[in-house]
Amino acid sequence: MSAISGSLVVSTLVTPAGPAPVRGSALGEPSVTREAGVAWEDGVLTYVGPADGLAADHPDVFAGCTLVPGFVDCHTHLPFAGWRADEFEARLAGRTYRDLHGEGGIYRSARMFAEAGDDEIMSFCRPLLQEMVDHGTTALEMKTGYGLSIEGELRQARIARRLAEEAPQTCTVTLLACHAVPKGIDRADWVRAACEELIPAAAAEGLADAVDIYVEDIAFTLEDVRAVGEAAVAAGLPLRCHADQLGPSGAAEVAAGLGARSADHLNNVSGEGVRALGAAETAAVLLPTSTFLMRATPPSARALIEAGAAVALASDFNPGTSPVSSIPEVVAFGCALYGLSPHEALSATTVNPAWVLGLSDRLGMLANGMRADFLVLEGDAFREVAYRPGHDPVLHTYVGGERVGGR
Ligand code: NIG
Ligand code: FE
Repeated sequence: MSAISGSLVVSTLVTPAGPAPVRGSALGEPSVTREAGVAWEDGVLTYVGPADGLAADHPDVFAGCTLVPGFVDCHTHLPFAGWRADEFEARLAGRTYRDLHGEGGIYRSARMFAEAGDDEIMSFCRPLLQEMVDHGTTALEMKTGYGLSIEGELRQARIARRLAEEAPQTCTVTLLACHAVPKGIDRADWVRAACEELIPAAAAEGLADAVDIYVEDIAFTLEDVRAVGEAAVAAGLPLRCHADQLGPSGAAEVAAGLGARSADHLNNVSGEGVRALGAAETAAVLLPTSTFLMRATPPSARALIEAGAAVALASDFNPGTSPVSSIPEVVAFGCALYGLSPHEALSATTVNPAWVLGLSDRLGMLANGMRADFLVLEGDAFREVAYRPGHDPVLHTYVGGERVGGR
């Protein structure tokens, strides 16, 4: 990190206080400081507190604004290589995600990915990463899952790592080893290949920070999660799981039982799944813009919080179920559709997703020693973000103390 130093004052500073991940009532109780100041040196925060305690000669002044940690988006399907707006229109006309799975859906994105050159994919994704940083995402997860062969998945992970090197954000890569059963191979044979070849190869090349699997009647089974979980442990990687999205499968309980880092989606999570996530380390990652655009039933967000689960919100940014890159939109829909308070949504888009990605030692909260990743938001309270979906509240995005986006 170059010598990036500075200071600023704002009307309001809101930050989760930790420890990460934040659970239960603490989710909605970040610390709020009126007339606050921060200072940073070499990209790391050296002061966070009341403005009158800030020892700086000429801080930047953002009157009427709110300072929060940068958003961390812990579930995206970048990189991808094209849109599928016609499938959204077809769903509005009565088709279902399940019917479209084949000609459309994941297989179609896999074809587009295979047909595009590496540089073409880089050029498609670069502006999307900038759009994300402009809307306040300072760290994110990218996934594979559109490769659908050993070589295809490794290629997607390498492209993700290349994008990560260029991106202004901190990026992690998750190997979504089991997303759709590749055409022409049995499910069980693919799971075996994923466990015996793909996961070890990705780990050996340093291409993955976690492993993911999609459990659904159109995809993979509970038995497959156990196998993939074992392969992930053997490779030294945390397990994540697309769980109970289109229907109830019991994946949340199994993910929690395996000590997975997260169970994601959870639209159809059972009462037992809620209890299991409440008692486990496994975070519950909820994806409200995916719910909105799929016109799906919201998950039991309040029950998860009350059970003590570590709830995070993320975009699920992908061309099929959630072509939404903006965390401010995710916050708005997390509040309006799932009934989170704005402060709960703030903790769920900062400290908790940072924990999901293994980055909470330096990201997700504003405190001395944390990286100077923060946002200057329009309005003197965080509630404004939830209140005006479609309005971009992010004036300035800083990563490592340097302004890298905003409007
Ligand atoms: O998280 N449902 C599985 N995977 C993605 C969608 C992928 C796609 O449709 O391309 C999701 O919603
Ligand atoms: Fe997803």
